[in-house]
Amino acid sequence: MNSFRLDRRLALVTGASRGIGCGIARALAGAGADILLAARPSPDLEQAAAQIRALGRRAETCAVDLHDIEGIPAWFDEVVRQHGRPDILVNAAGTTRRAPAESLTMEDWNENITVNLTAVFALCQAFARHSIAAGAKGKIINIASLMVAAARRTNSAYAASKGGLGQLTKALAVDWADKGILVNAITPGYIATKLTEPLWTDPEFDAWVKKRTPLGRWGTPEDLGAPAVFLAAPASDFITGQILFVDGGWISTF
Ligand SMILES: NC(=O)c1ccc[n+]([C@@H]2O[C@H](COP(=O)([O-])OP(=O)(O)OC[C@H]3O[C@@H](n4cnc5c(N)ncnc54)[C@H](OP(=O)(O)O)[C@@H]3O)[C@@H](O)[C@H]2O)c1
Repeated sequence: MNSFRLDRRLALVTGASRGIGCGIARALAGAGADILLAARPSPDLEQAAAQIRALGRRAETCAVDLHDIEGIPAWFDEVVRQHGRPDILVNAAGTTRRAPAESLTMEDWNENITVNLTAVFALCQAFARHSIAAGAKGKIINIASLMVAAARRTNSAYAASKGGLGQLTKALAVDWADKGILVNAITPGYIATKLTEPLWTDPEFDAWVKKRTPLGRWGTPEDLGAPAVFLAAPASDFITGQILFVDGGWISTF
């Protein structure tokens, strides 16, 4: 199964300090990749890097605040200068601010769109510019949401950001296919992380997720690991512009 190995590959994973990004970083490292872990500086980020090193892989922390869109190109240049050019980019950093649409503030709107969509575009662009300049192929994996395809109340900004991310994934896949840069997305179902803590600690919502999800449980960050390895590895070399639902069957029923 060499086509699922990532030996000698370098992966930049945003949102790697915890949750889904951290789970994906561990899985990529388990398949042989070295990892650049990006998030804001925190003990969690250092601990996530230590977990990768314990797997025998190189792990470097790359502090970034994705609100600073203008700073992303220079930050990416510096990451490449210090640690090397990544072959794989996983955009897992994300946030959510929930409120009924009629009372959502523009600040909350901008928070969702900036971190979940605009920053992802800037990161993909920086990754592609370096790959193209080096004549290198690459793989990008964007972490979307069930809200690429459906919406729930109080989530207008988040749904717009993730819906945009789904289309951005397809548009970049088409733009960069001839450069050998393959762009896909993973749509997690309901995954128990810090982001969803207000949901899985609510007994009513917890029961709804388990009932609504055909596989009958919350997902874990580990559930996203192997699908990410697949989309990063040579095994998926004829797949681009796809949105892979890893959701326990959620989207296939109603
Ligand atoms: N959990 C779910 O059920 C679910 C479902 C569908 C999609 N998703 C998506 O999956 C991704 C990961 O979510 P998660 O559940 O793992 O959330 P999480 O546990 O809250 O982790 C979010 C990650 O994003 C980073 N991040 C947030 N804002 C940032 C910023 N301004 N600059 C840099 N990094 C930032 C966080 O790092 P710091 O805060 O330490 O900087 C953290 O590493 C998100 O894109 C989310 O929308 C999650």
